Amino acid sequence: MAARLERGDLVIALGGGVIGDLAGFAASIARRGMDFVQMPTSLLARVDSSVGGKTGINSPHGKNLIGAFHQPRLVLADLSTLDTSAPCQFASGYAEVVKYGLIDDEDFFFWLEEKREEIFAGGPAQGEAIARCCAHKARVVIEDEKELGVRALLNLGHTFGHALEKDTGYSDRLLHGEGVSIGMVLAHGFSAGLGLAPSRDTGRIAAHLKSAGLPTILGDIEGGLGSTETLMAAIAQDKKVSRRALTFILTRGIGKAFIEKGVAPEAVSAFLDEMR
Ligand SMILES: NC(=O)c1ccc[n+]([C@@H]2O[C@H](COP(=O)([O-])OP(=O)(O)OC[C@H]3O[C@@H](n4cnc5c(N)ncnc54)[C@H](O)[C@@H]3O)[C@@H](O)[C@H]2O)c1
Repeated sequence: MAARLERGDLVIALGGGVIGDLAGFAASIARRGMDFVQMPTSLLARVDSSVGGKTGINSPHGKNLIGAFHQPRLVLADLSTLDTSAPCQFASGYAEVVKYGLIDDEDFFFWLEEKREEIFAGGPAQGEAIARCCAHKARVVIEDEKELGVRALLNLGHTFGHALEKDTGYSDRLLHGEGVSIGMVLAHGFSAGLGLAPSRDTGRIAAHLKSAGLPTILGDIEGGLGSTETLMAAIAQDKKVSRRALTFILTRGIGKAFIEKGVAPEAVSAFLDEMR
């Protein structure tokens, strides 16, 4: 306001997902809505947060609880900015890359298993992986911009992941993608425990994420975690909760995720106890 921004000015979000979410949210409320452009510089922002128009900030009650759907006018990504990305940040973004394969594209997951080293080394496969992720996300968002249905699938692993991020204070102890990595393994393990998915898939996914340097089990989180009750309280604040019933993204195997409404909290709590 001090800079006397006008509604016709353009906000440019140059940075990672945090900058994109914050600048996008600010643009959505300043002068009742200004245009903005996403210029993602981290792998995570490039393959996920810069596309789709979700903007927001965290609250003491949980992750991303305050925000708006506000579409950028343009997403402009320069691959060369990734050269300066810290390895752990690149790996964190890679968890979201893997997510697209696990949702509904098993061929993409198998391709990632083959190409992972090349993607990390910055070869042509890196650009292809990013393009495939953006195309996947754009397809989903065009179908369901406000997450009334199919867009929720993009939350695979996030219900657990967000609870873990809250528990670790949104700190460097657990980056967003690291929480998603553990969360995706938990979502597959939970599905396997319910007899919905083959447990060998859980092992295969965990092995792939581990090969990328990502944490895959609760024990990988340095400094330990709060009680299962604390984690369940965070899960109860999930944005997919409806009439107090838990909604989870479960799976029938690699590339076969689905939305399950009304998951019993007791089952989740017992599963988390088992995983500790
Ligand atoms: N809006 C959405 O749809 C959506 C989707 C997924 C994740 N997110 C959010 O995105 C956030 C995570 O984004 P992130 O992983 O980009 O984290 P981030 O924005 O914190 O960036 C990670 C770190 O890398 C640095 N960085 C960024 N680009 C760099 C570059 N080119 N070279 C060197 N350093 C660079 C940043 O300064 C920061 O320290 C989380 O808060 C998550 O909730 C939002």
